[in-house]
Amino acid sequence: MVEDLKQMDLDYVLHTYARDYTHFVKGSGARLFDKSGRDYIDFGSGIAVCSVGHGNERLAKALSEQAYNLIHTSNLYCIEPQVRLAKKLVELSGYDMRVFFANSGAEANEGALKIARKFGEELGKIKRYQIITLDSSFHGRTISTLKATAQNKMHHYFGPYPDGFVYAKNLAEIPHKVSNITCAVLLELVQGEGGITPLDREEILHLEKFLKEKNILFMVDEVQTGIYRSGELFASRKYGINPDVITTAKGLGGGVPIGAVMTTLKDIFVAGDHGSTFGGNFLSTRAGLEVLEILEEEKSSGRLDTKIECFSVKLQNLQKTYPEIFIEEVGLGLMRGLRMRNLDTLENLLKNAKQNQVLILKSGKNTARFLPPLTITLEEIEEGFKRLERAIRDLKL
Ligand SMILES: Cc1ncc(COP(=O)(O)O)c(C=O)c1O
Repeated sequence: MVEDLKQMDLDYVLHTYARDYTHFVKGSGARLFDKSGRDYIDFGSGIAVCSVGHGNERLAKALSEQAYNLIHTSNLYCIEPQVRLAKKLVELSGYDMRVFFANSGAEANEGALKIARKFGEELGKIKRYQIITLDSSFHGRTISTLKATAQNKMHHYFGPYPDGFVYAKNLAEIPHKVSNITCAVLLELVQGEGGITPLDREEILHLEKFLKEKNILFMVDEVQTGIYRSGELFASRKYGINPDVITTAKGLGGGVPIGAVMTTLKDIFVAGDHGSTFGGNFLSTRAGLEVLEILEEEKSSGRLDTKIECFSVKLQNLQKTYPEIFIEEVGLGLMRGLRMRNLDTLENLLKNAKQNQVLILKSGKNTARFLPPLTITLEEIEEGFKRLERAIRDLKL
């Protein structure tokens, strides 16, 4: 059966992913089960998506009830859970913003790019359209967000790209890249694909001040860091900044596709400027509401902070026990990494971890990435680390 599926996948699905052909059939909490019943501790959450774990009863019930009632009517009409989710996101964030709902992170970022371009248009005589992004960033796979992604290795084949993206090596270089046609800076506070290193808080505060003075939009891509992944609803709060635009996606729907762009420029768009057929429909926004409720409880009960502390200490201990393998522990909240000395060892660690029934990810060139469900239990963390340690001991150095 699994073999048949693999062949069918190869025959009928475009080959955009280097797939592992493990065939998961069930999930419960932070555990995934394959066809033979083997359980895996999921320290990846489907790349930061399954924020409330697998088989979450509350989410399943909310979705089922919503599906029996209404899934979609289009944005031509008022959508109650959409309105409620927008209100909840704004109130929980503490930012005075309005929200547009899309279906993915890339689409949320497309919305941000359009906000920046319209802002640049409305400012004055010269059209300001340049957007500065950071080296090693990742903002999505659409033509514009791919160009916003400052990794030239990803830009082969698909040009010509839209004009107006400028790359800075680091935060200090941003002011030097600003010109009279710069309208925005877009960055991740912790680069998800670029190595899990949180940007320096003082430098970010300094940049915010600089951008405000220059009337340049500060746009934060919280597609991966958002929805409590950092320990707060948005990492921007942890940094103490007030961005003009925030985008988010991954964890918001707990696996149901949804993205959102939020902005303080409440009247930037008028009817017809932007839209999406599916964006913000009943099903995805009902999912978002339930996910936020579950995660609010996780946060306010103190459980989330306890788990963050526990996870981080366990990673630090691994680094101390195996300094010949790991350079340092990095990250924020439950978005963490172990920087490794050797690239081949990282590939082997990923394989060994899988064999030992714990799923981890890679970030950048040399970082093992950990993005467990935010509802993971202390028992699941304990069990995951036992398996991880076995995987490390099995490594052939
Ligand atoms: C920071 C960031 N932005 C944007 C995206 C793109 O999101 P999506 O794959 O939902 O389009 C990702 C996906 O990994 C991401 O990590």
